[in-house]
Amino acid sequence: MSAKLNVNIDHVATIREARKTIEPSIITAAVICEQAGADGITVHIRGDRRHIQDRDITLLRECVTTYLNVEMATTEEMLEIAIATKPDAVSLVPESPEEITTEGGLDVVGHETIIRAMVKKLRDAGIFVSAFVDPVITQIEMAKSLGMQQVELCTGEYADLTLGAKSAHGDGAMRAAAEIKRIHDAAVHAHGLGMIVAAGHGLTYRNVGALAAISEITEFNIGHNIISRAVFTGLYKAVEEMIEKIRQGTKG
Ligand code: PXP
Repeated sequence: MSAKLNVNIDHVATIREARKTIEPSIITAAVICEQAGADGITVHIRGDRRHIQDRDITLLRECVTTYLNVEMATTEEMLEIAIATKPDAVSLVPESPEEITTEGGLDVVGHETIIRAMVKKLRDAGIFVSAFVDPVITQIEMAKSLGMQQVELCTGEYADLTLGAKSAHGDGAMRAAAEIKRIHDAAVHAHGLGMIVAAGHGLTYRNVGALAAISEITEFNIGHNIISRAVFTGLYKAVEEMIEKIRQGTKG
């Protein structure tokens, strides 16, 4: 069975917020993704509200019929939003105001006490909890011991190594292969601990196949590349094409 695809639709809200207006509608975007075969919708509500707003979470909770995964930082403010809206899953991510996008995984080893308390409250509220971590064994083991049900392995490093022609030959190809192995070993380890394994960040139509072939990874969260293609092809087709890439990779 091929891995699931949750489409991250933050950038539909990025366009809307560029004009602080009502279009494009993220609800329409979510429905189209679902109709095209996506298994879920992912959004990241950031402290600075640069794209997704509080109201979006409320509306998405009402409209998403597949699976709603909300990424958030480990703050009291975000905990309250999660408890009030009850998404299917919360993914805990690191966040800093200056970053363009999430930079690397959450250091669960360094923030044990805060995270343990937040995970307990989320799970008590019936929410499935995931941690976005680098493919590093100590981080995965700590995520498990803090009560996480899932880890989402950060593929940012892999994405950088596979940008453009970098990974086509020589040293670039070797480094990309080494990073695939690191992600593979991390996925096998997390799976062995009884965790669900997801992956995401910077994945594209071109680089997702190698990771889709890792059977322990059962979910992908992909946004920027799908929304970028959708500008030219339409969202329905862009989602269908990503699902096909994941299927092909799984066969490979
Ligand atoms: N997973 C996590 C935890 C993220 O923070 C992001 C970006 O918001 C993604 C997946 C999706 O990354 P991209 O937009 O590069 O596909």
